[in-house]
Amino acid sequence: MTSPHVTIGSSDEMQTHWRQLASQYGSPLLVFDAKVLRRNYQELVEALPGVQLFYAVKAHPHAFIVRVIEQLGGGFDVASGGETDLLLQLKVFGRRTIHTHPIKKDAEIRTALRYGVTTFVVDSLYELEKLIPYRGRVGVLLRLSFRNLGAAVDLSRKFGCSLTEAPEIIARARELDVHIKGVSFHVGSQCADASKHVEGIETCCELMQRMNEHGGTPMNVMDIGGGFPADYNRQGVDIHKFCAPIRAALEQLPDDWDILAEPGRYLVASAVTSITTVVGKSIRDNVRWYYLDDGVYGSYSGQIYDHACYPLQVLRTGESFPSVLAGPTCDSIDVIAEGIELPELEVDDLVIGHEMGAYTAATRTRFNSLPDARLVDLGTGEIDG
Ligand SMILES: Cc1ncc(COP(=O)(O)O)c(C=O)c1O
Repeated sequence: MTSPHVTIGSSDEMQTHWRQLASQYGSPLLVFDAKVLRRNYQELVEALPGVQLFYAVKAHPHAFIVRVIEQLGGGFDVASGGETDLLLQLKVFGRRTIHTHPIKKDAEIRTALRYGVTTFVVDSLYELEKLIPYRGRVGVLLRLSFRNLGAAVDLSRKFGCSLTEAPEIIARARELDVHIKGVSFHVGSQCADASKHVEGIETCCELMQRMNEHGGTPMNVMDIGGGFPADYNRQGVDIHKFCAPIRAALEQLPDDWDILAEPGRYLVASAVTSITTVVGKSIRDNVRWYYLDDGVYGSYSGQIYDHACYPLQVLRTGESFPSVLAGPTCDSIDVIAEGIELPELEVDDLVIGHEMGAYTAATRTRFNSLPDARLVDLGTGEIDG
């Protein structure tokens, strides 16, 4: 298990803030700060000028977040009927949404079409054929695979066709009269740097230009996916600097192409903070074990599914001891952090988890029938759960 970044102690002001939230809304709690989401969105817009942003709803499919992205004028990237339904319930205009899952049921395609989605993604001839009945109504992106062992989650392991397969799929689409309007890729989530994005942009540009020489409706859309990182190790993420190579690569593309991105993690990770409470403690083999009311089956599920390691903070200071922070379930995998040094904590102490907005609540379970952490919108006081 990777050791998290741990902060010991906090300012009086922040201690009061977290204690008040826990006493007002209960624990475990997830605290959503729309101001942080707005700032992240604005920073990404500035880091990627001219790129249309489609928030990847899967990162945190919640009304609080969707509403802010909508107010900011952003689009949405959905990957399932459930995500489409969420936007539908919130009355988000379907034309602002793209469907990016390369594998879909026919019913899901129909739901998305009814809602107003016209952009779909395929990565094989099989998926292309599913769109034949809807060919007059869809513009398709062909997803290419770019393996990236430097990303925390290498999504091209599972999706995307190879560069050598792409011309055949594009040629077949032309025969079938299914409009392939461009290409997409996702170079993996939580990327260490932007080198794979650059490779994707350059490779896809070359492919699109080569295919455009063959005539037919030109391809002029490139979707550069997500992968923009959260600051899990607290070293600071300068998104403008991270995106500099991407900006340079995009400048080489024809001016009249539409460039899209599907950011999830970068937008929402730092906008949500977890508050959890010590509910029990013991000393086992000279190590202090603290049992919390949230864990890897709950808000910390990203530690399992997403390979994330969230920065933690305890409010006490003092002499430190070898410690373990464990979740509330009966399973021994339910450990948030071990091999860390903490001051002596007491029952009812709070433990704060930072950068907990992406792939956290989205992947939690109900194991042991424990309740979900409630989500509070800090700005409005609105509470869910
Ligand atoms: C198709 C697709 N688009 C966008 C995203 C969001 O990526 P990220 O959270 O790295 O920005 C994902 C993540 O799994 C994805 O699968």
